[in-house]
Amino acid sequence: MEPYRIKVVEPLPVTTRAQRERALRRVHYNLFGLRADEVTIDLLTDSGTGALSAAQWAAGMAGDESYAGSRSFHHFQDVVRDLTSYPCVLPVHQGRAAERILFSTLLSPGRITLSNTHFDTTRANVELNGCQAVDLPCPEARDLDSDEPFKGNIDLDRLAEALRGPDASRVALVVMTLTSNGEAGQPVSMDNLTRAAALCRAHGVPLFLDAARFAENAWLVTRREPGYRHMSPRQVAEQAFRLADGCMMSAKKDGIVHIGGFLGLRDRSLAERCEPLLIATEGFPTYGGLAGRDLDMIAQGLTEVTDPRYLQARADAAQHLARLTRAAGIDIVEPPGLHALYLNAGRLLPHIAPHRFPGHALACHLYLEGGIRSVELGSLYLGSEDDNGAPVTAAPYELVRLALPRRTYGLSHLDYVGEVLTAVAKDKERIPGYRLIEQPPLLRHFRCKLEPVPE
Ligand code: F0G
Repeated sequence: MEPYRIKVVEPLPVTTRAQRERALRRVHYNLFGLRADEVTIDLLTDSGTGALSAAQWAAGMAGDESYAGSRSFHHFQDVVRDLTSYPCVLPVHQGRAAERILFSTLLSPGRITLSNTHFDTTRANVELNGCQAVDLPCPEARDLDSDEPFKGNIDLDRLAEALRGPDASRVALVVMTLTSNGEAGQPVSMDNLTRAAALCRAHGVPLFLDAARFAENAWLVTRREPGYRHMSPRQVAEQAFRLADGCMMSAKKDGIVHIGGFLGLRDRSLAERCEPLLIATEGFPTYGGLAGRDLDMIAQGLTEVTDPRYLQARADAAQHLARLTRAAGIDIVEPPGLHALYLNAGRLLPHIAPHRFPGHALACHLYLEGGIRSVELGSLYLGSEDDNGAPVTAAPYELVRLALPRRTYGLSHLDYVGEVLTAVAKDKERIPGYRLIEQPPLLRHFRCKLEPVPE
């Protein structure tokens, strides 16, 4: 059972099918356009959507809002240093600000960054600096159905090749994303991380962690990796941070807060080089775009998130929804991680071609059937068409992510999601594809307009 009880509740919006049909038409079949109070169960993201503990709210009340040198900052800094071992801690308003500040300081045009997988804002921040972000996922990641425990690993052979090949001098840094959000939330093993760190050290290339889900990765290591079963998630996390030169952290995930993040660095001179940009764009180094209360809430969240009972309950919830999804006849990317389930929409809806967006079609029907909001990760997100709408590139897989906000929904909510999945899967032949009618030139999935295409 969950190791907490409920003290504050918020009503769930309940809508009729007719209301949902109207809402979906109004937003041109783009779920990002919905008002949140038109959504019954919101599985769009696990970012900034968690429930804070009583201790976090209390810590927030005790926050010190001094502009410089606040008590809250010093507490936050102590907690982050203790967890990560990095002496320099730069607070930022969210993870992507840490990416922007680190990359703008370390990268120059023409350089390359390597990763198990770059999250999309990470890639965007690399490219905005005129550099190339290269993903090196392990080959096991290609098989969505296999039970391989660490499909988030980096391909060590390709990493070694890249670090000694003809472009080696252009490699500026390596990012290990824990867990790999781009690979369906799959974890990275400590063995893989240790070997990647050794390669980076041997070639004099700095290694950074994208630590957004460091505690969930650590939990999966204690469950799946021989040699780590006797360790606590906290001990594994500490060891992971020690292997790297620094981290970029979105505290909206494993900080269990609504906003916040930080850049942790081992190298003091690099931190000094990052500071002017931090001050110019986020805030003075002792608040970095956050309120004092946010810093205290993050500090408390970081101490709660590695609690094995919390992580066990979170893993159990993901497993529970995974069982319901399989029972509904919908395949997921196996084995399930903790922060989300990824539904294999391409396999469920073979009658919908990639450029008619099977993932998007499934996401729309989860909303129509039961007011559930999810996010497409398929050809709408990753593919492209020519001016006449003919397909140019498709995504490798047509997936839908059901993200699980932390401490927010209970098992009966997930049972409801299971019922909706069952109803949608039963009627799958009747689900139409969708056509794009308008799209912005960049990041189209957020703002594009679509319409159903009846066969
Ligand atoms: N890195 C990873 C692995 C992420 O998943 C995210 C955000 C970021 C960095 C950026 O952090 O949002 O605080 O700026 N992921 C969210 C998601 C948006 O829904 O997966 P941020």
